[in-house]
Amino acid sequence: MARVVTRPTVVITRRLPDEVEAAVAERYDVRFNRTDVALTAEQMAQVLRTTDIVLCTVTDKLRAELFDARVQTKLLANFGVGVNHIDRDAARRAGVAITNTPDVLTDDTADIALALILMSMRRLGEGERHLRSGAWSGWRPTHLMGRSPHGKTLGIIGYGRIGRAVARQAASALGMHIVYYAPRDVVIDDPATAGPALAERVDSIETLLARADVVSLHCPSTPETRHLINAERLALMGPTSYLVNTARGDIVDEYALTAALREGVIAGAGLDVYEWEPTVVAELRDMERVVLLPHMGSGTIETRTAMGLRALANIDAFVAGERPPDLVEF
Ligand code: DGY
Repeated sequence: MARVVTRPTVVITRRLPDEVEAAVAERYDVRFNRTDVALTAEQMAQVLRTTDIVLCTVTDKLRAELFDARVQTKLLANFGVGVNHIDRDAARRAGVAITNTPDVLTDDTADIALALILMSMRRLGEGERHLRSGAWSGWRPTHLMGRSPHGKTLGIIGYGRIGRAVARQAASALGMHIVYYAPRDVVIDDPATAGPALAERVDSIETLLARADVVSLHCPSTPETRHLINAERLALMGPTSYLVNTARGDIVDEYALTAALREGVIAGAGLDVYEWEPTVVAELRDMERVVLLPHMGSGTIETRTAMGLRALANIDAFVAGERPPDLVEF
């Protein structure tokens, strides 16, 4: 692996927690983006031409053409686990390594999936909007009745660290039965990260969709998973079922989901990620039966700090000529 000598230059593309910015600045010649506005393609091209290491994140669209010109950057230390915003083939061809920040965000992201399950089934966003609007006239037995998660089946697509954490929490806290779909055998090195003992693996996404009351997505965004949830598959879910997405927006065909919600093909959805982030299909924003969060999965001070320090650990290892702990394999 190429070794960067002397005090390398690092660009941090967005504001990070103070502790992280200070720790990176202590060791490297850092340039910050104080505006905290995502870099344009032109600005990013300039950064790649002039910087040894880029501490980037999901809002940086690192498309293939950015790697066509001469690139000084040797490492993209991504802040976040998903790297679908980086053209990995083009980066590899340009000799740029990529690292990410797994593990540290598992529990907080799983919490948001759980929150979305509860918010959508129990109509919590709708209830809050109702009260704030001044329309609440008091308690009544049939007001805002949702559906209970207890005893229902949660179908998890993608059984990696986050999917298994959601399974554990939903089974223990909400009494849900778990079925999951994983295209490959799940390898678990730490038993503490296993799914619940009674979780049942199903052989196809179709089987899962037909059996689950709630479907939660935890697979990465790849060309194969783009629009994995489309109109045909939504039709396999029932009119009392819910879809939750905390993974990546383009795994779901957002227009198909909007139509399915409009037509009552499914009962509701809870979303933290969107196909054209930060733009959200306008009709969804006006719908009561969908909960919309602004990509908050890992958004706690503890986790965002841990993510930053993990990105820094990857940079340190790379600069020392060692294999970074979270090197994304090609
Ligand atoms: C992740 O880690 O992938 C988060 O969604 C932020 O990119």
